[in-house]
Amino acid sequence: MTKNVFIETYGCQMNEYDSELVRSILKKENYQIVTDETEADVVMLNTCTVRENADRKVMNRVHEIKNRRKNDPVLVGVLGCMATNFKTKLLEDPGLKIDFIAGPDSYKQLPKLIEEVSHSGDKTFDVTLSEFETYSDITPTRDDGVNAWIAIMRGCNNFCTFCVVPYTRGRERSRTPDSVIQEVRRLVDAGFSQVTLLGQNVNSYRHDDTDFADLMAMVSDVPGVKRIRFTSPHPKDFPTKLLKLMAERPNICKQIHLPLQAGNTRVLDKMNRTYTKEEFLDLVDHIRATIPGVSLSTDIIVGFPTETAEEFDDTADVVRRVRFDTAFIFKYSERPNTLAARRLKDDVTEDEKTRRIVILNEIQRAISLEKNQAHVGRIEEILIEQESTKKSEDDYQGRTDSNRIVIVPKGSYKVGDFVTVEITEATTNVLKGRPV
Ligand code: 5AD
Ligand code: SF4
Repeated sequence: MTKNVFIETYGCQMNEYDSELVRSILKKENYQIVTDETEADVVMLNTCTVRENADRKVMNRVHEIKNRRKNDPVLVGVLGCMATNFKTKLLEDPGLKIDFIAGPDSYKQLPKLIEEVSHSGDKTFDVTLSEFETYSDITPTRDDGVNAWIAIMRGCNNFCTFCVVPYTRGRERSRTPDSVIQEVRRLVDAGFSQVTLLGQNVNSYRHDDTDFADLMAMVSDVPGVKRIRFTSPHPKDFPTKLLKLMAERPNICKQIHLPLQAGNTRVLDKMNRTYTKEEFLDLVDHIRATIPGVSLSTDIIVGFPTETAEEFDDTADVVRRVRFDTAFIFKYSERPNTLAARRLKDDVTEDEKTRRIVILNEIQRAISLEKNQAHVGRIEEILIEQESTKKSEDDYQGRTDSNRIVIVPKGSYKVGDFVTVEITEATTNVLKGRPV
């Protein structure tokens, strides 16, 4: 009998990609993917556990689904990083009523796990991490049609002390260049114009003699690839070879997500980031000198254990000096198992974390606005991605090479078109454009 499955995805782009893999794995076994949770026999939440509020969101969702379906039973599975982080504790919690769990390297076991729990009623799990699984043999089920995610590597060996990812996703492993290139070719044939290469730490990509810059060159050489993006690199090993390639190749977007995390050298050391404030600033200068006009975004954590108010000022200083295009700023959230949780007390108060995040957001908002306003009057090529998420049904939203969202009137365009527009208005988060 076919079962209807509904998958909800939380967290990062790697999870979006993994959900596409899961859809393919289940479809092969005769499951039907539905887009309405109430029609599903099995609901799976592909989870994130990078901060505590991500955990809470999922727990609430499990309660909500199970409560609503009291008279119409449904199996609920937790996939992804929460599964490997909390393991069978998730199944033991009597309040939670989760039926099965599967970690990021166990998705091929899902048909078996679901079969077993539906027959026996006994909860099932697989949270083993693999040194080899890259899912290269699975073609993800992609619905988007414009951008395709491609995971080129999985796992992380960096062990930043705040981060739970090395524990939830295991050791680094890279796919073969050949399997990546074949996938890119298939995507071009299927009409995708943008590919985004994914990895927890893409510049650790290595297969035999092929490093990340080599792989990018190979992807960029595939005929028909119009835009290539990647995320995320680590500032500690950003190769000049890659920067030069980005500058030379028109189909590699001039955009880099470069996670700063903190601007103070002592705090960076406690985070095990392996670069200093000055080294980060020098890297930014080098990037900008090599790729003029490059757009930079970042991640920042405020209130890491022992971070003083003066040390936080260094982070604010870096934000002011670098002038990132956008920044994602988070309050430190203690994660079980991490080195920071084991060795350091979460000693910055919630009020102080709030004060710091408010300050940084204010500085960054002003910079983002100024940078966006500088685009007014410019001619840019945008790739139309979807209907505008803002109020109007008459607009599409697209993206510039530098990853800025641009709202344009629909006209006779369609999703997937490249359109040349003049930027007419700018706010902190979006631009408005007029086709020329
Ligand atoms: N607390 C707050 N933010 C965190 N991140 C990772 N771990 C934590 C944590 N324990 C942030 C980092 C990372 C982004 C994906 O999430 O900034 O780059
Ligand atoms: Fe976490 Fe650091 Fe690895 Fe990124 S590089 S996933 S922050 S441990």
